[in-house]
Amino acid sequence: MKIDLLRKLTEHMESVIVMIDEKGDLDSVEYLPENIRQAIQLYLKQNEFKFEFNRIRSFPIVLPKHCNNVVLCGVGNAKELNGAKLRTLFANALRAVMKLNGREVYLFPAFANPLGDVQFGHILAESALLAEYKFNKYQADAETCGLEAVHLVMELKTTRHINRGILEGRIFADATNLARDLVNEPANVVNPDTLAETARKLALKHGFSIDVFGPDKLRRIKMDAFLAVARGSAAEPRLILMSYHGNPDSRSKSIGLIGKGLTYDSGGYCLKSPQGMVNMKTDMAGAAAVLGTFVAISTLKLKVNVFGVIAACENMVSGHAYHAGDVIRSMAGKTIEVNNTDAEGRLTLVDAIHYAVSKERVSKVIDIATLTGAAVGALGNQISMVMSNNDALLNKAKHAADFTGELIWQLPSHEEYLDLIKSDIADLKNSGGPLAGAITAGLFIREFVDKKPWLHIDIAGTAHKDRESGINTNGATGVGVRLLTQLLRELE
Ligand code: BES
Ligand code: MN
Ligand code: ZN
Repeated sequence: MKIDLLRKLTEHMESVIVMIDEKGDLDSVEYLPENIRQAIQLYLKQNEFKFEFNRIRSFPIVLPKHCNNVVLCGVGNAKELNGAKLRTLFANALRAVMKLNGREVYLFPAFANPLGDVQFGHILAESALLAEYKFNKYQADAETCGLEAVHLVMELKTTRHINRGILEGRIFADATNLARDLVNEPANVVNPDTLAETARKLALKHGFSIDVFGPDKLRRIKMDAFLAVARGSAAEPRLILMSYHGNPDSRSKSIGLIGKGLTYDSGGYCLKSPQGMVNMKTDMAGAAAVLGTFVAISTLKLKVNVFGVIAACENMVSGHAYHAGDVIRSMAGKTIEVNNTDAEGRLTLVDAIHYAVSKERVSKVIDIATLTGAAVGALGNQISMVMSNNDALLNKAKHAADFTGELIWQLPSHEEYLDLIKSDIADLKNSGGPLAGAITAGLFIREFVDKKPWLHIDIAGTAHKDRESGINTNGATGVGVRLLTQLLRELE
């Protein structure tokens, strides 16, 4: 898709989007050709329309040689715009064009942009590419064409900033769509081995380094918690290790990014219901977010060092599977009573985290995981849950989330709830039971970060949507790619 700032108006504009603030002043729209302006005026005389935030109206117009479709988009009070709202507007206006089968759009923004040119370009490109995304490769009658070009029509003192923003937004969106693809692929396509192979290809293409460990090596380094989860599956586990070196200063330690990589979660012997199982191919959305982030940061050439770990496996049932009641020894040495085989994510994560902390000596630990149904219950599917032991890191994450428009909210990590994961026969148990389930999962992981600054992101609710809205199509959202990328930029 071409996205650019138009230099010269053309005669024919297939589809036109006009974005106006609450004053609704059509005369304030710069460069809008007179015949289109008149056609809109006529429409507004005959139809009730208020330029309130996110009011969108589309109609075909009869100016055959000049224009086919018009989309009116209300902005409301432009001073109240933020990144998330502007993404919603761009995405919904562009969706209206797509519904009319438009291919080439001319976008006329007539409102004071409070965010600056770089962000404006970034948000436009990102929204267009994210809203246009489809996962339809398995459908014979899938639509093949979508938006081909978005031209921004506006007066700017310099085009440098907006063009830089468009370039950036494209990188953020492409990496997000890559993560979406991986999450949308079913578990018979994305398994631990193919996920590792995909990571290898991406590493080669984008110039970061990669290493992959199989079961023998995992046994030698005593990753028994991870191995216990993987044992019930015919698919061998893979530990995927990635490193990106953007900061030449050798004293600069890596930031650890750990993504949950369950390519399928049946629950193991504490089996899920059919309803609970159907979307469990998405249980590697944390891993996909880490992979997307590696692609984005290597394309942006960020001056940071990052170490990524994905413990990829399946949680299945078989004669080899782990039992409820087993006691296993994690790589860190702490013993864990498995009181629920469906609380498997944290078992894989803590071995991955221990590897990053002990072998790579990462300076910070950031984990991202579709970890708990409790996080979905608490915050729904629009807000990711975060937990941390470090206010500076948490505040940076909040700032990054403001920038990318991804919503996050912190849950508390009071010591009192550690009691819920104390075991009678081991150091810890893996499930804290029904109370405060998102918090006890976070506290369990915190026991393994070796007091390093830690940020935990539970995306169980936000990794997947069952209907399209704004920048999200139905299916995988690619949540976390933009947040992690922006956070690493702020940690540069
Ligand atoms: N992968 C699930 C969490 C999940 C639930 C993700 C719903 C997306 C949507 C995780 O492995 C899990 O099963 N968690 C259990 C933990 C419990 C047994 C302590 C849960 O949340 O029910
Ligand atoms: Mn589970
Ligand atoms: Zn899971």
